[in-house]
Amino acid sequence: MRIALVCGSVREVSSTRSLLKQLEKFLDDVQEVKVDFFDLKETPLPIFDGSLENRKQAESFVERMNLADCLIVASPEYHNSFSGVLKNAFDFVSGEQIKGKPIGIIATSGGGKGGINCLNSMRTFLRGLYGMVLAEQIVVDGVFFEDGRCINVDLLEKINDLTNEVIDFANMLQLRKNRPDLFEKTEQENNICI
Ligand SMILES: Cc1cc2nc3c(=O)[nH]c(=O)nc-3n(C[C@H](O)[C@H](O)[C@H](O)COP(=O)(O)O)c2cc1C
Repeated sequence: MRIALVCGSVREVSSTRSLLKQLEKFLDDVQEVKVDFFDLKETPLPIFDGSLENRKQAESFVERMNLADCLIVASPEYHNSFSGVLKNAFDFVSGEQIKGKPIGIIATSGGGKGGINCLNSMRTFLRGLYGMVLAEQIVVDGVFFEDGRCINVDLLEKINDLTNEVIDFANMLQLRKNRPDLFEKTEQENNICI
């Protein structure tokens, strides 16, 4: 099972990155899960222009999204939406890489403004890629950070729970793919008319 953690902030000191690093640490203890941390600061992508040369520069990102069975996508709320750098990255991928994959979304926000617009717009663009964004979603405001780390245990637990749920769904989908016999309907079930 492979989970991609995608960080939508490229700020040098970023609460979004720090939060995902805390999640990565939690996932160290979750067996049979391989984590692929994609940091757009560490691996910057060019501005999408659609040319062959341009797409070649983003090949590794596209391949990593392709390999992921499920994703956690986190972004700061910037002016009532998610970050531009995150949108640019996902402009390189298509439904081919994302379709049917369980996704958890997390927003970081500041000044008590909320982060809900970030989550709503992330949900909309990921739906455009046919991703299965789960209903649960989380906002972590800047007030919950101290020395660059989230210190709110309830929120950290919520993030871990959301991630477990994403992994559970991905496992179920994998089982369905590998053991279709388990999901075959009996003749009786096929005849049920509602
Ligand atoms: C350009 C800009 C726009 C922002 N707009 C919002 C906003 O609309 N709503 C909000 O809650 N916070 C807003 N913030 C605050 C950020 O969401 C918050 O500081 C977040 O934690 C930054 O994440 P980062 O440290 O990972 O970059 C904005 C910050 C910046 C730099």
